[in-house]
Amino acid sequence: MSEFTDTVEKKLVSYLPEADNEDIQRLVSSMEYSLMAGGKRVRPMLTVEFAKLCGGSEEAAMPFACALEMIHTYSLIHDDLPCMDNDDLRRGKPTNHKVYGEATALLAGNGLLTRAFGVLVSDEAVRLNGYEKCAKAVRVLSECAGVNGMLGGQMIDLESEGKGADVEHLKVMDNKKTGALIIAAAKLGCISAGAGEEQISAACEYASDIGLAFQIIDDMLDVTSTTEELGKPVGSDNENEKSTYAALLGLEECRRLAEELTNKAVSALEIFGGSAEQLRNFAVYLLNREK
Ligand code: IPE
Ligand code: IPE
Ligand code: MG
Ligand code: MG
Ligand code: MG
Repeated sequence: MSEFTDTVEKKLVSYLPEADNEDIQRLVSSMEYSLMAGGKRVRPMLTVEFAKLCGGSEEAAMPFACALEMIHTYSLIHDDLPCMDNDDLRRGKPTNHKVYGEATALLAGNGLLTRAFGVLVSDEAVRLNGYEKCAKAVRVLSECAGVNGMLGGQMIDLESEGKGADVEHLKVMDNKKTGALIIAAAKLGCISAGAGEEQISAACEYASDIGLAFQIIDDMLDVTSTTEELGKPVGSDNENEKSTYAALLGLEECRRLAEELTNKAVSALEIFGGSAEQLRNFAVYLLNREK
């Protein structure tokens, strides 16, 4: 895992744009600050594992994996802004806007979002995957990160504050705000490998289940963990009157649901047989994560 993290991080830095002016350098530095602050790199891991499972390679999947991590990091920078969740700590460090100011944090998010699509069609991505797969990757990432994906989930989240939404509503919200980028991770790996329909559909089923479990655990950790362990402020959801699984169902029922979803995810991998061992273990690691 840590060896993989090193590889991804070296690639991520190499994909950052170069500033051609001193003022712009401040923008690139702020992008680098959040990108390299040390996330778990869950989504790149999924992309690469699905690529390998479906007969592709880590090398070819890596530009897709990094583009997705850039989108994820942009979503976190914006999620922490005072007009959103108003959080001061992320990945164990002061949030982007605390260091660079709100305006630059806004641009840093936009910079990562824009660059991500450049990475998907970079010379390296095209050399390793061909134009057709790169074009498919652009389509998938724009759909999953867009208004009916992650952004839509964030919108529902904002609209739900203080309204005590029910479980069905939360499911729709979480499938989009968190599930969509996790599904994108699986799909991008499949695209890079040239996977068939049956493989893609099993990968999506797995990703959708671990995606929902992931947000349920995230909500639980906001209640049960410490800021030090988590690297982001605990109690943020309660402060913002967020509708979360933890608030609505209680911790015990959350745990049961997350376990059920993880088991379902693991079953979805049956068509791959023994070679899906890594991804089976990964689902269980995510269920038991403490940060
Ligand atoms: C946090 O994602 C935001 C959610 C979707 C719950 P991660 O828990 O993957 O954050 P990092 O990338 O490790 O910082
Ligand atoms: C945000 O969910 C998911 C994103 C799309 C960024 P949260 O607001 O719960 O994420 P954290 O807890 O701040 O990481
Ligand atoms: Mg949020
Ligand atoms: Mg947040
Ligand atoms: Mg959260």
